[in-house]
Amino acid sequence: MKRRSCKKMFSSNDYFINSWLLSITTTIMIFCNLCDAYKENNGSFPEGFMFGAATSAYQIEGAWNEDGKGENIWDHFIHENPMRIVNNDNADEACDSYHKYKEDVSLAASLGFSVYRISISWTRILPTGYMGTINEVGLKYYEDLIDEIVKHNMKAVVTLYHFDLPQQLQKDFGGWTNPLLIDIFVNYSRIVIERLENVDYWITVNEPRIICNYGYGSGESAPGLKYQEFECTKVVIMSHAAVYRMYKNEFPNRKAKMAINLDCEWFEPKTNSFEDIAAAERILEFQIGIFAHPILKGGWPKVVEDRMEQKRLMENSPVSQLPKWTEYEIEFINGTFDFLGVNHYFTNYAENDFENNVGKSRSEMNAGVLITTDPSWDKNSLGRTVTTWGTRKLFKWLKETYNNPEIFICEYGYSDNGTTLEDNERIRFSRMYLSAFHDAIYKDGVSIFGAMTWSLIDNFEWTSGYSAHFGLFYIDQNDPNKTRIRKKSAHFFKKLAATGRIPEDLHT
Ligand code: NOJ
Repeated sequence: MKRRSCKKMFSSNDYFINSWLLSITTTIMIFCNLCDAYKENNGSFPEGFMFGAATSAYQIEGAWNEDGKGENIWDHFIHENPMRIVNNDNADEACDSYHKYKEDVSLAASLGFSVYRISISWTRILPTGYMGTINEVGLKYYEDLIDEIVKHNMKAVVTLYHFDLPQQLQKDFGGWTNPLLIDIFVNYSRIVIERLENVDYWITVNEPRIICNYGYGSGESAPGLKYQEFECTKVVIMSHAAVYRMYKNEFPNRKAKMAINLDCEWFEPKTNSFEDIAAAERILEFQIGIFAHPILKGGWPKVVEDRMEQKRLMENSPVSQLPKWTEYEIEFINGTFDFLGVNHYFTNYAENDFENNVGKSRSEMNAGVLITTDPSWDKNSLGRTVTTWGTRKLFKWLKETYNNPEIFICEYGYSDNGTTLEDNERIRFSRMYLSAFHDAIYKDGVSIFGAMTWSLIDNFEWTSGYSAHFGLFYIDQNDPNKTRIRKKSAHFFKKLAATGRIPEDLHT
């Protein structure tokens, strides 16, 4: 019966065509699978994937009061009390990149990088931050620097704010806790964007969590204030959104993409208990979601709202520390991204600490989570874990939580104590990070389109001064010429950029 109906349906001709189509389709599928497997296995990154290195103005430029530059919060924080920094170091001269920028650009280009990340020092452009005349010398400096990058066939990734607020804005307004900063930041950004036409990627704000939790929460970083991290968080998010909206409205013909850049670390539940699993999710939402959710989805993450309400009840406080959004603000912020900038360094454990708040950092206390590590895990010279096994999980989480955004990795890197140019550990960990990025792209379908390592040259690592060396080029701070010396890792990165795949050997 069955056979007969089959015969009815297909003539022998049809049968021939169908089986022919079937075998072609099967061959194509096998071929595509082989292609995928090949792509995955040979370690190649996608065509056009951008490799590069990142820096920031305060950490490399020096020339802290030259050519009309005003004082910023880090100048002030350090000059007021040099003991705040390891070895009483300061960034007055730093790597002297203000004068050596051409050399630095050519070093980045010599490694075959297609992108180089810098930041703008606000007080070189507006010495007080908001009033008075624009400092033409400062604008010209960045125009020349970006022209130099472009001349070397690299794309310029430019951060508008990388931790160095004009001191006058701190003094007159209380810095990032004051909503007046929103318009002030827009005013500064407009001046910079208008002039710097050759930028390819704009980053509005680098690591807002670090700005707010350490500068205005624990007081460990400039400007050294405490317990105001939520006020800061709201103003920084609004400032980012206002600059994005201004850029899209006032510069409609510009091609450059714009985004915020978040520090994104992975947290693994310490145990399989329900409480620890919830704790890991909570700390991710307090560290990443608190910024990403308003921008990529709208409003605070529910987990953050719920925890802050619980905290209010536990503290018997009449108001929550978490500021409210108006409907207008939620709309205004939502969607203000062309991609997501991600800085990623480590993975740690998260343990539930809902009631006790014994965690050390502001995020831990606010989230009711204790962050721990395992003594067997690799650490860098700053004691931060180098646990790349969590890296792929992080990117999968970002993809799933935020609907697969385009991701630009704006920082990943490894610090050592600078005693050797044979920096095999940097190569080892870079390879591990890169292969996790590669897996995230090919195995999990995460849309990562570039990765910049921190950093091109050894530089001023904030309160750790010059004790931590992150660079592909070594700088001896006692050398008055601040000579840049190539490390072995520079060869690794050169080979990576040239071949588009992770080098298998350490030597070139
Ligand atoms: C992230 C920051 O953006 C950068 O300024 C810092 O030096 C690196 N992490 C390394 O800690």
